[in-house]
Amino acid sequence: MIKMKTINKAHQKNRLAWEEAFNHQSESFRTDTIHKLSLNPKLLFTPELQRHLEKVGQHGGIIAQFCANNGRETMGALTYGFKQSVGFDIATNMVEFANHTAKTLNLNASFVQTDILEIDVSYANQFDAVLITVGALCWFKDLDAFFEKVAISLKSGGYLIIEEAHPFANCLAGHGEAEFDPNNLKKIAHDYFKTSPWIENTGMGYMTDQTYESLAFESYSHTLSELLNALRKHLIELIEFHESDIDQSNLFTDLNHTGIPLTMNILAKKK
Ligand SMILES: C[S@@+](CC[C@H](N)C(=O)[O-])C[C@H]1O[C@@H](n2cnc3c(N)ncnc32)[C@H](O)[C@@H]1O
Repeated sequence: MIKMKTINKAHQKNRLAWEEAFNHQSESFRTDTIHKLSLNPKLLFTPELQRHLEKVGQHGGIIAQFCANNGRETMGALTYGFKQSVGFDIATNMVEFANHTAKTLNLNASFVQTDILEIDVSYANQFDAVLITVGALCWFKDLDAFFEKVAISLKSGGYLIIEEAHPFANCLAGHGEAEFDPNNLKKIAHDYFKTSPWIENTGMGYMTDQTYESLAFESYSHTLSELLNALRKHLIELIEFHESDIDQSNLFTDLNHTGIPLTMNILAKKK
């Protein structure tokens, strides 16, 4: 029986919103990428990510990044010893930029335009490591489907490196939200177990330096148990789990060092 490919409409709407955001990118976002990649790619990573990339990269091999954006981290990861890197992202213009940049800087990196959930079997058992950084998991309603793709594409014994917003941070309200209270930054504004999507149409400030009336982005919260259960289901074993009260999402920097979990780092291994 031939299996029909189903197009995820919400993901395609997000693609248009991300492509629009990339077209609105600030000059500093664009030049910062080239600048850091040319001068010192390690500047692209937090100390915790650097530690994990060093540990895994010393063995060489191929690293893939899921939701690679403009490819800066995928290309930057090569500095840790990987011999090749591959980035996957749904936004066509980001992938074009990333492929062009890799060629210009003579880096052994390539980029593929795809919905992560459409990554096909030609990538099965291809990668020694998969990298996921802040703001990637929220685009997938079902983490199980996402980590199935990670597990299929990793070689047996391959590593998964994650730096993501801590699930608890979904309870907080950021600047610009109706629930935001400047006098009570630690307010629990949202349900930790929220299952309905977030719909936002004020752009992607971290890429554009300003808000604008944008196409709608649809994203999801996930609990810690959803994440851990999805990893376990796909035989991805935790090696290290680290939580920190330093925000890497650019949404809650006012709360840095105040005892609220804002970022998590995971090093895991496929059995
Ligand atoms: C916030 S970035 C994450 C990477 C990195 N931390 C960064 O800021 O560049 C999120 C990326 O996910 C991509 N994305 C969103 N939904 C996707 C999907 N279904 N499949 C592949 N990429 C997707 C977007 O195009 C965007 O480049």
